[in-house]
Formats: sequence, C-alpha cells, structure tokens
Amino acid sequence: MALIALTSAGGSPGVTTSALGLALSWPRPVVLVEADPSGSRSLAAGYFRGGQLPTSRTIVDLAVSHRQGTLIEDLPPSLFAIPDSRVQVLTGPLRHSQARALELLWEPMAAAFKALERQGQDVIVDVGRLGLEGSGYKLLAAADLALLTTRTDLPGLVAAGSWVPSLRSTFEQAGALPSLGALLVGAGRPYGAGEAAKVLGLPIVSSLSWDPDTAQVYSHGTAPGRKFAGAPLNKSLRAAVQATQAAVATVRSHLDLAAEGFQS
Ligand SMILES: Nc1ncnc2c1ncn2[C@@H]1O[C@H](COP(=O)(O)OP(=O)(O)O)[C@@H](O)[C@H]1O
Ligand SMILES: [Mg+2]
Repeated sequence: MALIALTSAGGSPGVTTSALGLALSWPRPVVLVEADPSGSRSLAAGYFRGGQLPTSRTIVDLAVSHRQGTLIEDLPPSLFAIPDSRVQVLTGPLRHSQARALELLWEPMAAAFKALERQGQDVIVDVGRLGLEGSGYKLLAAADLALLTTRTDLPGLVAAGSWVPSLRSTFEQAGALPSLGALLVGAGRPYGAGEAAKVLGLPIVSSLSWDPDTAQVYSHGTAPGRKFAGAPLNKSLRAAVQATQAAVATVRSHLDLAAEGFQS
C-alpha cells in the first residue's frame, strides 16, 4: 500500500492525465487526490466534462476539518467514486485563491492518507506544478514515491532539471532520496530515458507513451474509441503501474535497511 505523488516543474507535461490514467489502471482500490493549488479543476472540467460532481466537498473543506481535529474521520465521506472503477476522488481547490488555506494541511493530510493505506487503499496525488502558492511540497516529501513528471524535449528536461537540486536536498534531509524519481511523458520525443536520466540526475521510474487521442480521454473526457484498452498510452500505463509498485517496494526495503542500520 502506498502514497504516490506526481508533480511537474512547469508547462503542462501531463501530470493530471498521468495521475488519472494510473489511478484508473490501478489494480487495487485507490484514492486520487487533486492537490493542484492552481484551482484549475482539471478533473471536473476535463474528464467529467464540466458536469456536476456527486459531492460538493473539496480538499479545502478538510482544512476546516483539520482545525476542528476531525480530518481522519472527514476524509472518507469527502470522496466520490468514479463509476465502474476502483477509484475514489478528492476534489481540489475551486480557485487558486483557496490554496493558501492548504499550506498547513499537507503534513496532516499525509498522515490521513497513511490511515487510508492501512485500510487497503493506495493514494495517488496530483500535486500539480511546483512553486505555486499552496503547493503540496510537504505532501511530495512524505510520499513513498514522488514522480517529477516531464516531457523529454529540451525545454521540458531543463525546466524539470532546475527543480532537481532542491528536491534532492529536501529528500536527502528526510532520509528519503530513494523515493524521488521521474516519470517521462512521451519518451523518445526526442530524448530517450537514458539521456533524460542523465540530464535530470534522477532515476526514470517509468515512461508513458505519446498518444494524444488516448490522453484526451483522460484530460478532456472525450469518448474512448473501440481500441482504447489496447492503446499505446494505456499499455504504458499498465507497465507504469507495475514499475511504480516495484519502485515503492524497493524504496521500502531501502528504508527498512536504513532503519535496521540505525538500530544496530
Ligand atoms: N501521454 C500523452 N500523450 C499525448 N498527450 C498527452 C499525454 N499526456 C498528456 N497529454 C496531453 O497534454 C495536455 C496537458 O495534460 P495535463 O494532464 O492537463 O497536464 P498537466 O496536469 O501537467 O498540466 C493535455 O492536452 C493532454 O491530453
Ligand atoms: Mg494538471
């Protein structure tokens, strides 16, 4: 069971698409958290095509719960299920101006997500773009696996690379460097995973195929075609689920070894 967080350095490399795609491909019950402080309401406006969501509760309501000491109890009833899936969603802020209320929420939120984990639910968080007011940097640092998501063209890699030193030092200080990796969107356009790893100075946990039509199903709610299940992006999402789970297992064994070393 794991907490996995996706983030980006800027632009729009595909964090929301990848997080939703991973969640819908996840083999176990999973909570998808919209923690993007930009207030872009990507899921409501995109995948749900602007339709009414089954609950009006958002992550901002949980800031109130936290102040009242009821965060852990209030989290499950704040989620809604995506029909015909194992995914439950926590909606993000409705406006960027609400994001400031989230600053103090990220650390207790990480603890609340760990409580969900104990009930058999994994958690995938769309942290959105780094560096925004209210950004869930602390949530990222508490994750079992934090994935800096980037395209593989030079502007994408350079922008992502600019965040790597500060991310590395945050994770190093927390003794959690093995938890930090990259997720490539459209590897080979033009740089491959090996080159990206070198430029970024991070291990590449997985690469998602470049597949605009399939991506639009997740990002804009377009109707899936007949060949949707076998589409390149979906195949790569299934491989990414495996790679993510394997990376979490490796991180946990590293941390266990480190804890044993600490004790002896
Ligand atoms: N693997 C992919 N292949 C092709 N296009 C993609 C892929 N992933 C995302 N996209 C497209 O990129 C655009 C931005 O995606 P989005 O997930 O909203 O980015 P972000 O959350 O990083 O801002 C969308 O139009 C989406 O369809
Ligand atoms: Mg997004």
